[in-house]
Amino acid sequence: MDFLSLAKARHSVRKYDVSRPVEQDKLDYVMECVRMAPSAVNYQPWKFYIAKEATMLEAVSSCYANEWLKTAPCIIVACVDHRQSWHRQRYDNKDHADIDIAIAVDHLCLAATEQGLGTCWICNFDADKCREVLQLDAEVEPAVLIPIGYAIDPGREKKRKNMDEIVFS
Ligand SMILES: Cc1cc2nc3c(=O)[nH]c(=O)nc-3n(C[C@H](O)[C@H](O)[C@H](O)COP(=O)(O)O)c2cc1C
Repeated sequence: MDFLSLAKARHSVRKYDVSRPVEQDKLDYVMECVRMAPSAVNYQPWKFYIAKEATMLEAVSSCYANEWLKTAPCIIVACVDHRQSWHRQRYDNKDHADIDIAIAVDHLCLAATEQGLGTCWICNFDADKCREVLQLDAEVEPAVLIPIGYAIDPGREKKRKNMDEIVFS
């Protein structure tokens, strides 16, 4: 698949075949694509927790208000460690953790699409509760939940701004 086709094929999947687990080799492939993501100063300030067992899936999905997450056979929690991320100290000390994790999660979602798997970014979740579930240090922030599995949801037509609304010269 060329890159544009892949970018168009990726969409937010909000209903999964709960009875169909993600094959371990596909999960390994997706996580290898994540591992290759670039990060500021190559600090790689991330950790990924993979929930597959019923108890952990239930605990992680309880951090999100929408029931559809319970259909996911696997949920990846992408976390950033703010002690490890690059801060732009010479100027304004901006923490680049969010940028780094966004790139890694995008690798994840695109690689999953290539493997025939569905994903969805979830940021509207209770991060404090998730931190408790995973027993994370205070400086480690669960940034994104990513369900991954075989889609039942067929997806919707992509709505995007026109090129002339976003590109200027
Ligand atoms: C940073 C970020 C946070 C998001 N958080 C949520 C969320 O909490 N719940 C949800 O259902 N979708 C969430 N989404 C998915 C977006 O709604 C979706 O990507 C957007 O509507 C475009 O649709 P598409 O992914 O199908 O192309 C999020 C996406 C991004 C990039």
